[in-house]
Amino acid sequence: MIKFVLNNQPVQTDLPAGMTVLDFVRYHKNLKGTKIGCREGDCGACTILVGELNGNSVKYLSMTSCLMPLSNARGKHIVTVEGINRPDGELTEVQQAIVDESGTQCGFCTVGFVMSLTGFCVDETEKSCESAISSIDGNICRCTGYKSIERAAEKLTQILNQKNEQSRLGFAAEKGIVPGYFSDIKNRLETLKDLPTNEFYEAENRPQTHDAKHGAEDQYTSEKSRTKIENRKSFVGGGTDLYVQNPEEMVDATTANLFDDSDLRFIEETNDSIEVGASTVVTDLLVSPIFRRIFPNLYAHLKLVSSTPIRNMATLAGNFVNASPIGDMTAWFLALDATIVFNNEREIPLREFYIGYKKLAKTDDEFVTKIRFRKNFSHFNFEKVSKRTCLDISSVNTAISLNVENALIANAHVSAGGVAPIPLYLRKTSEFLRGKEINDTTILEANEILQSEISPISDVRGSAEYKRLLARQLFTAHFVELFDYQ
Ligand SMILES: Cc1cc2nc3c(=O)[nH]c(=O)nc-3n(C[C@H](O)[C@H](O)[C@H](O)COP(=O)(O)OP(=O)(O)OC[C@H]3O[C@@H](n4cnc5c(N)ncnc54)[C@H](O)[C@@H]3O)c2cc1C
Ligand code: FES
Ligand code: FES
Repeated sequence: MIKFVLNNQPVQTDLPAGMTVLDFVRYHKNLKGTKIGCREGDCGACTILVGELNGNSVKYLSMTSCLMPLSNARGKHIVTVEGINRPDGELTEVQQAIVDESGTQCGFCTVGFVMSLTGFCVDETEKSCESAISSIDGNICRCTGYKSIERAAEKLTQILNQKNEQSRLGFAAEKGIVPGYFSDIKNRLETLKDLPTNEFYEAENRPQTHDAKHGAEDQYTSEKSRTKIENRKSFVGGGTDLYVQNPEEMVDATTANLFDDSDLRFIEETNDSIEVGASTVVTDLLVSPIFRRIFPNLYAHLKLVSSTPIRNMATLAGNFVNASPIGDMTAWFLALDATIVFNNEREIPLREFYIGYKKLAKTDDEFVTKIRFRKNFSHFNFEKVSKRTCLDISSVNTAISLNVENALIANAHVSAGGVAPIPLYLRKTSEFLRGKEINDTTILEANEILQSEISPISDVRGSAEYKRLLARQLFTAHFVELFDYQ
């Protein structure tokens, strides 16, 4: 049984835990405001808000409901466009701004934009025109043209900046951006919070569709939960790869859901290293004071990764285990020479995780619990080229961490994606850089070694020659970016 709050209504359902929230709200709750576009996380037509208890308040994030399993809704506040409409029938500030600026024509995309902008209004991030426009980076419109929608976003920013001491949510309720019932959601979620959080039991408790051997008699104790996870062959994080790759199979798949396991969602710092829980999402890194301190260009780098709603769902372990040769977070953590830790405490360097195209050095029962890396670098950079600047996967990506002491490279780790069947740790290039001065000769020679380590193929993202050229240019760009090298 999955319980959550849908708009202003409590919901409990025995439907498959793997069903998407999109299908649930449209076909089982008849809430047709949430639109179906691509079903691949690309268009934003299905955007909803997901509210989760966060200390003394509720934190809302935009997510694409087409990729979100029902199991990830457990204990949360799921908000569709019907849930933000005002009881008096007037338009909300967000809806009105879009109307005023002529931001809608056929209207198919409009709900998604409204939901993303409403999410922006209630989150605690800084409010600027730039961040308002960034909040709709996961929404595509085919008819209006973006300028009118951007003007609506800018107008909202002016309203939001009138806020005084209240919380963002309090201000949004006062301004009619969200309805009054939002103020009681925290209490309502509190009553759900002691319910089981390991959603993978959900599938087992549906005897009509699931193999009895998985045991409907299991109790919701954390010790058993862990055992249960270990007995499973398949794991789900945010679902942003799995639901694109196998949408039909996922509905009835027997999976262990790791997204809401709080033991897997943390960022901790010790004297010499950082540990990050496997289910930490890209947005968690973006707002982490630790990451912001250690990676000064964090925002510029991470905004190249997918879009706001996808970053709100995309876990690090999902990116690593999906094993795409162009995984951005994989390239990032390879260049930190990170290690990954499994549920059985086995720890291996991330660079040893990839043993062939989509072949991993892990058993079916092993799942990633955390990622660890040392803070022994003075410089870090990430570069990515994709066909579109926003919301596109890499043609080629690369990251570098360097420890520079007395003008010499004391240590170096370089990674590259899109240039081999696996995400590549550039071992020879990294070794070559160690002990070298940063000058033309070092960069040119390192680039030659890099070229000998990669083996790109021609595909939709570019020819092999183009990718070699990109790898060369992006490697050089690390030094331009970090050392003003010309
Ligand atoms: C529109 C869109 C844009 C995207 N853009 C980018 C982009 O710019 N850059 C990029 O790198 N990626 C991108 N992605 C891909 C995707 O968002 C990332 O790879 C994401 O990090 C996957 O995480 P997830 O939690 O959603 O994975 P899921 O889909 O839940 O899982 C992916 C795989 O990881 C496994 N898994 C999950 N957690 C664990 C665990 N703890 N232990 C073991 N196995 C586990 C699952 O079993 C599955 O095999 C995009 C996806 C979409 C839909
Ligand atoms: S339907 Fe396009 S993002 Fe979900
Ligand atoms: S108004 Fe038609 S798709 Fe945006």
